[in-house]
Amino acid sequence: MGELKILTKYADHPESKTLSHYKSVGGYEGLKKALTMKPDDIVNEVKSSGLRGRGGAGFPTGLKWSFIPKNIDKPKYLLCNADEGEPGTFKDRVLLEKLPHMMIEGMIIAAKAIDSHQGFIYIRGEYYKSYNIVQKAIDEAYASGLLGKNILGSGFDFELGLYAGAGAYICGEETALINSLEGRRGHPRLKPPFPAVSGLYGCPTVVNNVETFSAVPQIIMNGAAWYSKMGTPKSAGTRLFSVCGHVNKPGVYEIELGTPLMTLINDLCGGIKDGKKLKGIIPGGSSVPILTEKECRTANMDFESMAEHKTMLGSGAVIVLSEESDIVESTFRLAEFYSHESCGQCTPCREGTHWVANLLHKIKDGHGTKKDLDLILSLSLNMEGGTTICPLADACVGAVRPAIEKFRSDFEARLQPEKKKEPAMAGA
Ligand SMILES: Cc1cc2nc3c(=O)[nH]c(=O)nc-3n(C[C@H](O)[C@H](O)[C@H](O)COP(=O)(O)O)c2cc1C
Repeated sequence: MGELKILTKYADHPESKTLSHYKSVGGYEGLKKALTMKPDDIVNEVKSSGLRGRGGAGFPTGLKWSFIPKNIDKPKYLLCNADEGEPGTFKDRVLLEKLPHMMIEGMIIAAKAIDSHQGFIYIRGEYYKSYNIVQKAIDEAYASGLLGKNILGSGFDFELGLYAGAGAYICGEETALINSLEGRRGHPRLKPPFPAVSGLYGCPTVVNNVETFSAVPQIIMNGAAWYSKMGTPKSAGTRLFSVCGHVNKPGVYEIELGTPLMTLINDLCGGIKDGKKLKGIIPGGSSVPILTEKECRTANMDFESMAEHKTMLGSGAVIVLSEESDIVESTFRLAEFYSHESCGQCTPCREGTHWVANLLHKIKDGHGTKKDLDLILSLSLNMEGGTTICPLADACVGAVRPAIEKFRSDFEARLQPEKKKEPAMAGA
């Protein structure tokens, strides 16, 4: 187990983003095959490959596609989530900028599978460079008959548009993304109904992450059995991780799922910066619980191992903190981020994230008390577990509570000393 370049094999080629290079290394062969397949067979192939969503929750992709109702008199939409807003995450950017045709090919195959004729890529507003590269790739695909009417003479039509967000983290949540795409405020919607039943413009919709779509062409080309042999029984394939923080070689690494976390850190990323000791690692983007150095030694980069360690692979961002990190400061910064990005619809999130950020601010500046620390923990209990429309409040709790529980002494060291009670006056 370790580095295994399946999606990113040609990412370092200077022409990798062009249609001609992509085709020269077998690109769009998966689409040619898919165009001869029945939609159900494509769904079943993706189901049996074991591919799970790479956007956050790890939902089985083929199963998601199978929820799209058949024989209904409504258009079906296909959306690619390229919002990539989770702090620490920059792995989709590699695919968008270096291999845009792989994602486009995956989308056309998915469209054929769910009988969709219109798709959109919702891209993070700040990804200006990526936007231009993806638009160019879409234009190339149209000019070559890979998008539009009667794709490659198959009789199948699929139109694809690119839409830039405006810098709101919440628009990465799939129903907020749908609202934003419709021109509304980026507010998450209540579920059910799930997008598969009522998504864009009230029609059945599939939303998948950039990397999820990018894995599809090779699954169709090489077969589900080939794909599911990689990784572990419940975490098939490879996955891209963006590693940042205190490592010698930060960057995006594609590894086989199940690879030990410390193999990624030591063998691929060159170990902890400046020979320092490891303090902890946030293994899946800022929303997921941090692992202590001891936990890192036994954690593997797969869905099961992360669940055993009470954390998640999340968005694929690995944030490494050395012994020199100020965990109080970094936890405060994350809480402030969630407070700023809360859409404000739900009280536990709007108020909770704000309170948590303010209390942490107080503690980091040395004005906090033990009561403040305990208040954060008690507030967090009211913010999680389905008290809100979307899991942004849970994300804030995921970033804050385990950090306090696992590194409590760091927080306590910043507290104001308890005021001693004045002894009662004799005779009073
Ligand atoms: C607050 C929030 C932000 C999210 N941001 C992203 C994002 O930037 N990119 C992404 O792919 N998924 C994001 N998600 C997850 C999406 O809602 C959705 O589950 C995902 O796009 C589904 O794709 P997948 O099945 O391929 O993983 C976010 C979820 C939440 C709650």
